[in-house]
Amino acid sequence: MSETGTNNKKRLLSGIQPSGLLHLGNYFGAMKQFTDLQNEYESFVFIANYHAMTTVKDPNVLRANTMEVATIYLSIGLDPENVCLFKQSDVRHVNDLSWVLSTLTPMGLLERCHSYKDKLAKGIAADHGLFAYPVLMASDILLYKSDIVPVGKDQKQHVEVARDIAIKFNNMYGDILTVPDFRTQETTAIVPGIDGQKMSKSYDNTISPFDDEKTIKKQVMKIVTDATPLEEPKDPDKCNVFALYKLLATPEEIEKMRQNYLGGGYGYGNAKKELLAKILEYFGDIRAKYFDLKKNQDYVAEVLRKGAVKANEIADQTMDEVFKAVGIR
Ligand code: ADP
Ligand code: TRP
Repeated sequence: MSETGTNNKKRLLSGIQPSGLLHLGNYFGAMKQFTDLQNEYESFVFIANYHAMTTVKDPNVLRANTMEVATIYLSIGLDPENVCLFKQSDVRHVNDLSWVLSTLTPMGLLERCHSYKDKLAKGIAADHGLFAYPVLMASDILLYKSDIVPVGKDQKQHVEVARDIAIKFNNMYGDILTVPDFRTQETTAIVPGIDGQKMSKSYDNTISPFDDEKTIKKQVMKIVTDATPLEEPKDPDKCNVFALYKLLATPEEIEKMRQNYLGGGYGYGNAKKELLAKILEYFGDIRAKYFDLKKNQDYVAEVLRKGAVKANEIADQTMDEVFKAVGIR
C-alpha cells in the first residue's frame, strides 16, 4: 500500500496509448474501469505518449492523438478534481526509473512478452523501444507506488512483468517499491469486432462511439452475421450483434432480444437497428461532452498541466528514494 497517498485510499494507475481512434473494445475492456473505480481509489490516469512512439511516427498525429485521449478521458466522466490526469512525457523521471529498472530486468523476461513476440512472429522487425516497452510500463506503474492497475486482458502480462521487477528491486535495494496487482473486467474480457475477431484498430473492425453517427451506422450495418433467413429462429449466443448489444443494454432488454432471436421472424437487420440505437443512447451524454470539449481544448490542456504537477510531486519522492538506494544520489 502506498504511504504517500493524501488519504487512506489505495492507489490506482492506468493509461492508454494515443495510437488511434478509441473503440468499444478499449472502452469496455479498459477505460470503463477507470471511471467505475475512480472514487474507490486515489486514481492516476495518464496518456502513454512515449509508448505510442513505438507505432506512431508522425509528430502531428502523435500530438493530436494525445489530446484526443485526454478529451475522451474527460468525456467518459473522469473527474479531474478527483483523478490525476496527465501525459506520460510530462513526468520528469519516468525514463530515469525505466533505466534503473532495465538494469535488473532479465532479457528472457522481455523476450517472452507478447507485444514483442507477436511482432517477431509476423516477421516485422522490432526496435529496441518495442522490446523495452514493458520496462517503461513498469516504470509508469512503480513510479507512483500504485497498488492496482486496471487493464484489458492483453495487458495482464505486462503488469506481471512490473510485479516481477518490483520484487527484484526490493530484494536488491530494500523495500521501496509497491508490488502492484492487476485488475481486468472479466465480463467484457474480449469485445468482438464487426468481423467477430477481437475488436482492434489493427484489424480495421472497430466501432468507435466517438465517430460521427453516419460512420457508426455504417460499421454496425457491416457486422458479420450468418445466413439464417429472417423467419427462422437464431442463436443469440453465436451472434456478434447480440454480443455487442449485451454490453450496452439492461438485463430486461437483453432478455427481450434473446427471445426475439429464438422466436424467429426477427432479422439481423432488426437487431442491428436496435444495437445502433442503443450505442447512441448509451453514449449520448458522453458524445455530447466529447464534441463540446473538442471545441474547448485549452481547458483539456490545462487539466493535463495541473495533473502533471501532482504526478511529478509523487514521482520525485519515489525517485529520491530510488536514486539514494541505488547509489546515484
Ligand atoms: P488495439 O487492439 O485497438 O490496438 P490497444 O492495444 O491500444 O487496442 O488497447 C488499449 C486497451 O484497451 C488495453 O488495455 C486493451 O487490453 C484494451 N482492449 C483493446 N481492445 C480490446 C477488446 N477488443 N476487448 C477488450 N479490451 C480491449
Ligand atoms: N501498454 C498499455 C496499452 O497499450 C498502456 C500503458 C502504458 C499502461 N503504461 C501503462 C497501462 C501503465 C497501465 C499501466 O494499453
